[in-house]
Amino acid sequence: MNRITQLFDIQYPIVQGGMIWNSGYKLASAVSNAGGLGLIGAGSMYPDVLREHIQKCKKATNKPFGVNVPMLYPNIEEIMQIIIDEDVKIVFTSAGNPKTWTSFLKEKGITVVHVVSSSKFALKAQEAGVDAIVAEGFEAGGHNGREETTTLTLIPMVKEQLTIPLIAAGGIATGRGMLAAMVLGADGVQMGSRFAASTESSAHDNFKKTILETKEGDTMLTLKELAPVRLIKNKFFNDLQELYSKCPSVDDLKSHLGRARAKKGMFEGDLNEGELEIGQIAGIIHEILPVEVIIDEIIKEFTMAKQEIQNNTF
Ligand SMILES: Cc1cc2nc3c(=O)[nH]c(=O)nc-3n(C[C@H](O)[C@H](O)[C@H](O)COP(=O)(O)O)c2cc1C
Repeated sequence: MNRITQLFDIQYPIVQGGMIWNSGYKLASAVSNAGGLGLIGAGSMYPDVLREHIQKCKKATNKPFGVNVPMLYPNIEEIMQIIIDEDVKIVFTSAGNPKTWTSFLKEKGITVVHVVSSSKFALKAQEAGVDAIVAEGFEAGGHNGREETTTLTLIPMVKEQLTIPLIAAGGIATGRGMLAAMVLGADGVQMGSRFAASTESSAHDNFKKTILETKEGDTMLTLKELAPVRLIKNKFFNDLQELYSKCPSVDDLKSHLGRARAKKGMFEGDLNEGELEIGQIAGIIHEILPVEVIIDEIIKEFTMAKQEIQNNTF
C-alpha cells in the first residue's frame, strides 16, 4: 500500500493518462482490470459519446476507473454533469485553472487530481483542494508546459513544495522509469505513450505502427503560441515549421492547424496531414502489447531494478 494505491483503491500506483483519440473504455477498463487506474479521455468525446464510454467501462470492469477532462475543450459544463449523473468517482482535470471545478467535484464526493507542468501550478492546485497532483515533464506526449521543465527536475521541485500525493508523468514507460520517478519522490506514475501503443488503445493502427518507428529526436514540442504540444515530425509538422520561418501571426497558426487534425492523425490514421501526439519515450517502445502484459512487465522490471539497486553497493 502507498498513498496512491490507497487514494484510488488500486493494486499498483500506475495511472494510464487520459489521451484524446486513444483512451476509450476499452483501454481504461483493461488498465483498471490489470491493477492500475484507467482513465477515459473525455477531451475527444462529445458528451453523449462520453456517457456511452462511462457506461461501457462500468460493465467492463468492477475496479475503480476515472475520467480525464482537459478544460481547454468546449462543453465542460455538460461533461461535468454527465460525470455526476453517471456517478464517476475519480476525475483528472488538465489544461486549465484547478480552481474552476475542484470544489464543485469535491462537494459531490469525487476524488480530484489535477495535471500540472510546474511547481507554481502544483501549489495552486493543492490550494484549490485537489487530492493529488500529476506533475508532467517536457518529455511527455500531448499538451505540455511552455517552460520545458524535464521530469527529472520537475518531480523533486514539486515534491519540495507539496504535501499531497504526487504522480510523475513524462518519459516513463518501463519499470525502471517508474522506479526512478519514485526514487525522486513520486508516489506513483502516469503513463501515456506506452498505453497509446497497446492493443486496447483506440488509436488507428497506422498511428500505433508509427509509434514503434519513432526514434530519439523524432518528436518536438511546438505550437507554444496556441497550446504547446509534442508532435512527431511528419509532413504536417514540417509544413508548420516552414510557416514558422515566415514569422506567422497566431491567426496564421490557427488557420494552418485547422480543425480535427488530432482526430485525422491518431484516429483516422492520416500520417501526413494529421497531428501525431507522442512522448520522447516512444523511442523505447518496440511492440504493441495487450495492457495486461505491459503492466506485468513493468511490475517485474520495477521489482528487479529495485533489487539491482540494493545490490549495487559502494
Ligand atoms: C496521444 C496522446 C494524447 C493525450 N491526450 C491527453 C488528454 O486528452 N488530456 C491530458 O490531460 N493529457 C493528455 N496526454 C498526456 C497523457 O495523459 C500523459 O500525461 C503523458 O502522455 C505522459 O507522458 P508519456 O507520454 O511520456 O508517458 C496525451 C498524451 C498522448 C501521448
